[in-house]
Amino acid sequence: MMGDYIGVIGDLHGRKIALGVSGGVAAYKAAALTRELGRMGADVHVVLTEAGSRFVSALTFHALSGNRVWTSLWDGGAENGIPHVVLGRGIDAILVAPASADFIARLANGLAGDLLSALCLARDCPLLVAPAMNRQMWENPATQRNVATLGNDGVVIIGPGEGEQACGETGLGRMLEPEALCEAVRAFFTPKRLAGRKVVMTAGPTFEAIDPVRGITNASSGKMGYAIAAACARSGAEVVLVSGPVALPAPAGVWRIGAASALRMRDEVLAVLPGADVFIAVAAVADYRPVETAGHKLKKSGAAMQLELVPNPDILAEVAARPDAPFCVGFAAESHDLDMYAENKRRAKRLPMLVGNLLADGLCGDDNTVVIYDDEGRHPLPRAPKALVARQIVEHLARLLPTA
Ligand code: C5P
Repeated sequence: MMGDYIGVIGDLHGRKIALGVSGGVAAYKAAALTRELGRMGADVHVVLTEAGSRFVSALTFHALSGNRVWTSLWDGGAENGIPHVVLGRGIDAILVAPASADFIARLANGLAGDLLSALCLARDCPLLVAPAMNRQMWENPATQRNVATLGNDGVVIIGPGEGEQACGETGLGRMLEPEALCEAVRAFFTPKRLAGRKVVMTAGPTFEAIDPVRGITNASSGKMGYAIAAACARSGAEVVLVSGPVALPAPAGVWRIGAASALRMRDEVLAVLPGADVFIAVAAVADYRPVETAGHKLKKSGAAMQLELVPNPDILAEVAARPDAPFCVGFAAESHDLDMYAENKRRAKRLPMLVGNLLADGLCGDDNTVVIYDDEGRHPLPRAPKALVARQIVEHLARLLPTA
């Protein structure tokens, strides 16, 4: 159900992608890639080379993509019997993953003796290629020459990655993981509205230590902030994410700095702020911290305990009040009267844009329902997965951002 929901409105919704699978052990990852692209809303048409079909069967790709799988230049059933022309119609991009050394050589030389090569040669859409081969094949001058030729021809090369290889060696040549390839395709299709811009952000909760094992914190998964960081990076921005403790990997292309407490988060933000065009404060910063942090674990005595707290600095208000303030975006999670509290916060902190949501939606889920507030008024967004909400927030801020 969730998958279908994302599929309908996913990032690649309406994109028709031909996924070329050539011969290599990494072909098994193309099965997961087919599914991941489909989850993002893409209409995936798999083209399997003869060598590719030795590793994974057409049946697998058919089941995962929901589309027939193309395997031969002489495939029957295509209009006028020209499958590479019929298949190529209306395609938004061709992604070859894995692209073997042999297939890359064929591409670089404009050969068209098999369906996938012919499709690439006859294309009028972007071509993305994810190399996958043994380290020595990748380092061979012939392969390097071929990859350079593809680059000069405008082909986008994604990877390869470094690490353990099926042959037992370690080095460059591994195909990137399906999630990373899918991310690269999403980034490819995202308009670069924030190109040349530097975005500084906060995300996650803060943790205000009482003693070495105890502390005060807020409920925050960091998912919304991380999704926004990823969306900014995809839009071409340089992104620095100052993050409280969360269980999430840093998004692709994002520089993450860990900062557990509010004071540390403030210091890290101020250190990376010079040159920033945008500051987005998504973090659920604890409003108070203990006056003192005990150096040792406090022992329980059974008696009542007093904990003296002092207010934390408001990082967003401080950044927004600077004479050289970047474009500041705030967040507000409220339990009721969202419009009133959100607008008051936006005015009090002098923010051109604030994103509000009701706590009834939960703080750590995968979906969110938000309202954007700016000088023009309120702009409600439909409930959607956080990745999609993030994209809309970034599009909105890119529209409001003064031209550089
Ligand atoms: O006032 P409130 O905490 O609701 O404001 C929320 C907004 O201010 C969020 O964008 C949050 O990241 C930011 N904030 C901050 N530093 C604080 C408290 C909130 O940057 N100490």
